[in-house]
Amino acid sequence: MSRLESFIRRMSAQRDVIDHVAQALPLPEDGAILEIGLGNGRTFDHLREKFPGRRIVAFDRALGAHASSTPPPGDLVLGEIVETARAFAGTDAALVHADIGTGYDDKDAVTLTWLPDIVARALGAGGIAISGLPLDHAALEPLALPATVDSKRYFLYRRRA
Ligand SMILES: C[S@@+](CC[C@H](N)C(=O)[O-])C[C@H]1O[C@@H](n2cnc3c(N)ncnc32)[C@H](O)[C@@H]1O
Repeated sequence: MSRLESFIRRMSAQRDVIDHVAQALPLPEDGAILEIGLGNGRTFDHLREKFPGRRIVAFDRALGAHASSTPPPGDLVLGEIVETARAFAGTDAALVHADIGTGYDDKDAVTLTWLPDIVARALGAGGIAISGLPLDHAALEPLALPATVDSKRYFLYRRRA
């Protein structure tokens, strides 16, 4: 499969999983959404559309988002996520979306030494995690993906109580 085709499938999977959560998986009533890896802000914009009224806190090492998809200063956390997101442990986030895979197995293996724990600690009980990388953590129960999404293309979890 070409890298272009793989990218398109990843983007479709990301959208389909987010839409599935918005339509079929109730989130805890309170709690913010954490967007881990703001990038251009396209997913931030989609989350904003699908979860109106929710605070969305976005993380990246530097601001590179389109002006129309840049969070307000109080909801933008710049720096290395392994350091910045730790401050969100215990904040009972309702939803975490993480899109920080690189396509390099060695780099992603380093990310996976800390990302699952950061996500599990930030979520409140019943909160949802959507990720482009697998989040292997005892507190995160894997959930079924929508039928349009291949397993291993995107990942979906609920934080155990
Ligand atoms: C694939 S892009 C996210 C794209 C985003 N979903 C969008 O709609 O544009 C990943 C982003 O995460 C950031 N990132 C990846 N790993 C990071 C880390 N460890 N700390 C801070 N930022 C990181 C990168 O700078 C990049 O902007």
